[in-house]
Amino acid sequence: MGASPNPIENSFEIAAQRCADLTPLVYQRLFEAHPETQAMFRTQGSALVKGSMLALTIEAILDFAGERRGAFRLIGCEVSSHDGYGTPRELFIAFFAIIRDTLRDLLGDEWSPEIAQAWDKLLLEIDAFAGIAA
Ligand code: HEM
Repeated sequence: MGASPNPIENSFEIAAQRCADLTPLVYQRLFEAHPETQAMFRTQGSALVKGSMLALTIEAILDFAGERRGAFRLIGCEVSSHDGYGTPRELFIAFFAIIRDTLRDLLGDEWSPEIAQAWDKLLLEIDAFAGIAA
C-alpha cells in the first residue's frame, strides 16, 4: 500500500501503523490539557461515547481535508449540540489540536514539515468553519 498523497491522511496512516487505537492517548491528552472535560462525560458507558466521538471526528477531519463528500458537516452540527453539553466553542475546537498533538507525538521523526503545515492550515480552516456554523 502506497503512502497517501494527502498529508493529513498520511499522518493518520502512519499513526495507525504504530498504534491500534488512538482513543486512550487522545483522551489522556484532553484530560491533562483540559481537566474540566473529564467530568463532562457520563460515568456509565462513557467508553463507547468517547470511542464513537473520536471515530466520527476523525472521519469528519479526513473528509474535510479530502473530498468533502459530507462527513465534514458533522463539525458544524456538533458545534451546536456541544453547546447543549456545556462545551464552549473554543474547547470544541481544542479537540482537533489534541488529535494533531497526539499524532505528532506518535509520528516522531516522521512528522514532516509538510504534515505540520497541512495540520496548521487545517486547524485554521476548521476554526473558521465552526465559527460560521455556530
Ligand atoms: C474538547 C472538546 C469536546 C468535548 C469536551 C466533548 C464532549 C462530549 C460529550 C460530553 C459527549 C457525550 C454526551 C453524552 O454523554 O451523551 C460528546 C459526544 C459526542 N461528541 Fe463531543 N466533545 C468535544 C469535541 C467534539 C468534536 C470536535 C466533535 C466532532 C466534530 C465531537 C463529536 C461528538 C459526537 C458525534 C458525539 C456523540 C457520540 C455518540 O454517542 O455516538 N465532539 N462529546
